[in-house]
Amino acid sequence: MAHHGPAFEPKSKALKWFDDRLPIVSLLYNSLGAGYPSPRNLSYLWNFGSLAGLCLVIQIVTGIVLAMHYTPHTDLAFDSVERIMRDVNYGWLIRYMHANGASFFFIAVYIHIFRGLYYGSYKAPREILWMLGLVIMLLMMATAFMGYVLPWGQMSFWGATVITNLFSAIPVVGDSIVTLLWGGFSVDNPTLNRFFSLHYLLPFVIAGVVILHIWALHIPGSNNPLGIDVKGPQDQIPFHPYYTVKDLFGIAVFLLIFCAFVFFMPNALGHPDNYIKADPLVTPSSIVPEWYFLPFYAILRSITFDLSIPFTDIVLIDAKLLGVLAMFGSIIILFFLPWLDTSKVRSGQFRPTFRIFFWFLVIDMVVLTIVGGKNPEGIWPLVGLIGTGYYFLHFLVILPILGKVEKTLPLPQSIADPVMNPAPAE
Ligand code: HEM
Repeated sequence: MAHHGPAFEPKSKALKWFDDRLPIVSLLYNSLGAGYPSPRNLSYLWNFGSLAGLCLVIQIVTGIVLAMHYTPHTDLAFDSVERIMRDVNYGWLIRYMHANGASFFFIAVYIHIFRGLYYGSYKAPREILWMLGLVIMLLMMATAFMGYVLPWGQMSFWGATVITNLFSAIPVVGDSIVTLLWGGFSVDNPTLNRFFSLHYLLPFVIAGVVILHIWALHIPGSNNPLGIDVKGPQDQIPFHPYYTVKDLFGIAVFLLIFCAFVFFMPNALGHPDNYIKADPLVTPSSIVPEWYFLPFYAILRSITFDLSIPFTDIVLIDAKLLGVLAMFGSIIILFFLPWLDTSKVRSGQFRPTFRIFFWFLVIDMVVLTIVGGKNPEGIWPLVGLIGTGYYFLHFLVILPILGKVEKTLPLPQSIADPVMNPAPAE
């Protein structure tokens, strides 16, 4: 854990005076400068943490401006959003950045997570770092869900109705929880008000957890594509300028794609029904969440049977509660992943069988995303059930066994070794 580079030396007397009293400059130097030596072999997949950070900043800045013009009242919310689009200077730009920014935030974070899954970044000593990431993901989901309710379109209203109703499946206290969430007896003005309040609050909570996340990263330092520990200075380069420049290049590419969406297809990721004002008396023909929730929505809907004691009528858990448990369970098991994956080798590069199952999991998530967007009829419920089954099988059965039986490939001596002593060409 060679993790401290040269100490910070203030260049001027004034800077030294300031830093002796509030060592914020040395803190930044130690975490982003030459004081933070990083593995020399990080690939572009290590860009997505900084990209997620950029997304959080974009969401907070555009969100604060939107809140200056938005009205959280059921009679006015929809019209206030239309006014932002038409009458507020650059309101359309701010709104489209915020709406597409949410999608891009999830893209960045999902790639960030799958990078971690492939390279075993969740393994010791990075378990807390991983779990803090999962807390961030849960907070992001809550934030995005409540944000989508604010424009008070048809999908806002009906999405909120379907999802809040899920809590009624909890035995005994379920109905009381739903009443509390609603602030009444249906999704209505009190619901909109508390969602607005929480939607404004949670991104700042996320920012706080991100600070803990980075802190937990800086104790062991970054993992890397080889998944082996840093052995000494020959394996490292200073974060600045090498990774600051690489992160900036990633940000430039990211912004290009982001702009393509914001300026040329701003509604591609949205649902047209949300341009119809919410009407509690008209149910849309299908109620679908935003794309980033679809796999979890598919898991929720894949359970259509009760869990009962075989050969009796005694129902242990009814289908609705079972679906809710499966959906939340699919994220909760990720907290146990550092212990479910029993392999000593971190990186998928040296785990040939794990690598195949990793891609099965990716395909499984894509399939679940597709299923989540379909009406639950025909072949889709069955596909959803198989997809859900594989998801749990992967984490609860395959990974624990694989770690014990898989024949892994030999690990290099150090990060620098394959570069300095390349294997002779065949
Ligand atoms: C707001 C959301 C997030 C932000 C801003 C963020 C930020 C970062 C940054 C800047 C890094 C270092 C650069 C990198 O490795 O890409 C990092 C590393 C990491 N993050 Fe996140 N992260 C977020 C969400 C998550 C989530 C949801 C998870 C997992 C569930 C996660 C797991 C990890 C892990 C395991 C590492 C260490 C990776 C390695 O060294 O191989 N992060 N994060």
